[in-house]
Amino acid sequence: MTINPCQLLILILAFTGSMNGIQSANILGLFTSLSPSHLIIQMSTAKILAERGHNVTVVTVLKPLVTHKDINLIQVPLSTEDAQRHSEIIGSMSKNDNSNIIVSLFGMLKRTGFMFRKMVVALKDPRVRDLYLNNGNKFDLVVGGYFMNEYQLGFARKVKAPIVLVALMPPNQMIGSLIGNPLEGSFLSADKDAGKKDQGTSFRQRLTNYFYSQFFKLFNYLSERRNIDFYNELFAEDPSMPPFHDMVKNVSLIFFASHGPSEGPIRALVPAAIEIGGIHIKDKPDPLPKDLSSFLGNATDGAILLSLGSNVKSSHVKPETVKKMFNVLSKLKQRVIWKWEDLEKTPGKSDNILYSKWLPQDDVLAHPNTKLFINHAGKGGITEAAYHGKPMLALPIFGDQPGNAISMVQKGFGLTQSLLTLEEQPFLEAIQDILTNPQYTEKVSSYSSLYRDRPITARKSLIYWTEYVIRHHGAAHLQSPLVHMNSIAANNLDVYVLIFVSLAAVILLLKIVFKFIIKTIASKSKKGKKQKKH
Ligand SMILES: *[C@@H]1O[C@H](CO)[C@@H](O)[C@H](O)[C@H]1NC(C)=O
Ligand SMILES: *[C@@H]1O[C@H](CO)[C@@H](O)[C@H](O)[C@H]1NC(C)=O
Ligand SMILES: *[C@@H]1O[C@H](CO)[C@@H](O)[C@H](O)[C@H]1NC(C)=O
Repeated sequence: MTINPCQLLILILAFTGSMNGIQSANILGLFTSLSPSHLIIQMSTAKILAERGHNVTVVTVLKPLVTHKDINLIQVPLSTEDAQRHSEIIGSMSKNDNSNIIVSLFGMLKRTGFMFRKMVVALKDPRVRDLYLNNGNKFDLVVGGYFMNEYQLGFARKVKAPIVLVALMPPNQMIGSLIGNPLEGSFLSADKDAGKKDQGTSFRQRLTNYFYSQFFKLFNYLSERRNIDFYNELFAEDPSMPPFHDMVKNVSLIFFASHGPSEGPIRALVPAAIEIGGIHIKDKPDPLPKDLSSFLGNATDGAILLSLGSNVKSSHVKPETVKKMFNVLSKLKQRVIWKWEDLEKTPGKSDNILYSKWLPQDDVLAHPNTKLFINHAGKGGITEAAYHGKPMLALPIFGDQPGNAISMVQKGFGLTQSLLTLEEQPFLEAIQDILTNPQYTEKVSSYSSLYRDRPITARKSLIYWTEYVIRHHGAAHLQSPLVHMNSIAANNLDVYVLIFVSLAAVILLLKIVFKFIIKTIASKSKKGKKQKKH
């Protein structure tokens, strides 16, 4: 008997690949987002699914930072002019005051027109259209990166596969309705402060929440108009495509990069809402490169990691500021790992400082000797440090960084100072305060243990639920009835109207009957009196 290579492959798969009853599936990721932070989360899910052995194809516009050798990447890049315009928009967005979510949402709707157009253009690319035009392609599942782009659900119908979404936000008013997640308007707000403990306990707060959510409805309506236009532009030529309003009822489930039990606010989740907050962080750290490993391993007094992110180049930091930081750090007994691009021109030589051009930040933070993380208050860095329970000193510069820093300090995870006005004495005092006062480490450690305490890890949850949808060819059975109800039915308004009208009718009827009775009695007693007089 001879076995050809194909049969051999099947045999090998049969013995090794028992992924809960499914073989390697063909999965398509639609990650056309022009936001780098969204793409990191989205690509993290693709990477995990590829590591699991699935055949993952991904469509992107940006060049992904996170990826995997086995992922088939279809990048539809921006033209040089568009890339220039894109970086200008990102720059102008980060300069705006984003403290009010309503104002920032409407501003975003206006400014992001260009970005949304590019996402649509990517789906029109011949290589991308080939995914459904070429009958050789068979997909078992589409994973869509979500941000106000419901029109892409049509693509899943085109490749005849169920769709799940990945979202950076918690199940809020913008996205929750796709899977019928209830919105407890009395205590959940569309406002940014939704995480606050006292939400909705007072009448005033609930009234504010109510008006915010009405504004949000208007926003959702405008976003929907845009989606319908894009949907028709992409798919209307095909008469077999359902109308947009039916298509949005076809999401199998949504992965949210959030974790309500530790981050708040506490809310109800339908079975189709799966929280995978921290998905971009590894469950177990990788071994460190040799030099870092022995430098950190021998840091008997602890170590400090200093990284001002990839956006902050020397042009943002004045040489005097770097000098001041060096003066403070070189005198510490702790060891310092300093992320520094230009190894020819370092801030200075010192035995306790190791400069490194590239750093596995996540793995360094996971090391038990790392005691403090000095950062630029980027969201990713703060999340990683909080995950590993490491206190922080944030040195924000622009964009969302000052806001991230303030919210980190409010949680008690560390301190913040502006990098632009950094002085030696306060910088030293802040470092020493965080290293010696245990309250910061305690706060961030207890958050970390809450954040990680889950029945299964984010990674396992992603794999389980993805394969669940593949095994059952979609998850229509998981859907909340709310998905198929209009707002009158969902809020029982018709029932209230019926009860009100019935009550009013009964009251009216009783009134008429009473009037009649009183009239009859009155006229009888009148008659009686008249008869007595006679
Ligand atoms: C993986 O998926 C792509 C896209 O459908 C397909 O072209 C390729 O043949 C698949 N590879 C395997 C090994 O199935
Ligand atoms: C300390 O440094 C030495 C020499 O570089 C190295 O061999 C050793 O493994 C380090 N110790 C730890 C605990 O990493
Ligand atoms: C989506 O539409 C397909 C085809 O009509 C259907 O079989 C499937 O059950 C739907 N999925 C959901 C989640 O509604």
